[in-house]
Amino acid sequence: MAGQSANIKPGQDMQGNSREVSSSQQGCHEQLEAVVRKHLAEPSRRPPAEHTRAAFESIRAQVAAAGKPLVLDSFCGTGMSTALLAERHPDCLVIGLDKSAHRLQKHAAAGNDNYLLVQAECGDFWRLALDAGWRLQHHYLLYPNPWPKPGQLKRRVHGSADFPALLALGGSIELRSNWQVYVEEFTRALELAGESASSELFTCAQPLTLFERKYADSGHRLWRCRCQLGHNTRPSAAEHQTR
Ligand SMILES: C[S@@+](CC[C@H](N)C(=O)[O-])C[C@H]1O[C@@H](n2cnc3c(N)ncnc32)[C@H](O)[C@@H]1O
Repeated sequence: MAGQSANIKPGQDMQGNSREVSSSQQGCHEQLEAVVRKHLAEPSRRPPAEHTRAAFESIRAQVAAAGKPLVLDSFCGTGMSTALLAERHPDCLVIGLDKSAHRLQKHAAAGNDNYLLVQAECGDFWRLALDAGWRLQHHYLLYPNPWPKPGQLKRRVHGSADFPALLALGGSIELRSNWQVYVEEFTRALELAGESASSELFTCAQPLTLFERKYADSGHRLWRCRCQLGHNTRPSAAEHQTR
C-alpha cells in the first residue's frame, strides 16, 4: 500500500453526480456575529462524551512518546486525507478524527506510519487536547457537513461553542467546502476572533478526500479558508466586549 496516491478501497470511489448544496441562506447568517461573540466570551463547558474521552486517553501516551509536531485532520471520513497529509508532513504525527466507525472502517491503510485514525467527536476532542496542553502545527477541516438550513448555524464549526477550542489549539488552519457561504462564515468568525483569514475559490488538481473528488467530478466549485492562527494583531471580539 505504500506510496498509493489515493487511499481508496476497490469499489469505494464515488461518482460525479453529487448535488450542489442548496439553502435558503444566501449569505452569512444574520446571527453569525452574535453567536460567535457569545461563544468567544463563554466557551463550551459541556463535559466531553465518555467515548471521546476514552479515545483521547487511548492515544495520549503514544502522542507524547512520538514527540512530533501535531497535525489534526478533523472530519476525516475514511481517512484518505489523513494518509495523504502524513505523506505531505513526514516530520509530523497526523491524527484523523471522525465520529463514524463505518467511515473509518473503510480506510485503506497506507505505508507510512506517522498517522492515527481516531473515532471521536471533533469538538470534544479539541477541548480534551487543549486541556492536555497540545498545540497544533496544522489543522485541516475538509468538507465538514454544511448544515445548510439557517436554523443549523450552531451545528457548523464556527457556530459551535467548541470554536474557541479550535482557535486555542493554534496552527495553520485550512477549511474546505463546496458551499461558499460556509467558507465565508468561517472566515468572518476567524476575523471576529481577531485573526487574519482569507477565503478563495480553488481548483484541486489532486483530490485530498473522497468528497473532494466527488465534488470535483460533479463540477462543483470548491472554496477554502486559510489562516495562520495567532498571527493576528487585532483584538478579538471577546476583548472588545470587555472594553
Ligand atoms: C461530508 S463528510 C467529509 C469527510 C471527508 N473529510 C471527505 O472530504 O471525504 C463529513 C464527515 O464528518 C463526520 N462528522 C460529522 N460531524 C462530526 C463530529 N461532530 N465529530 C466528528 N466527525 C464528524 C462525518 O462522520 C463525516 O465523515
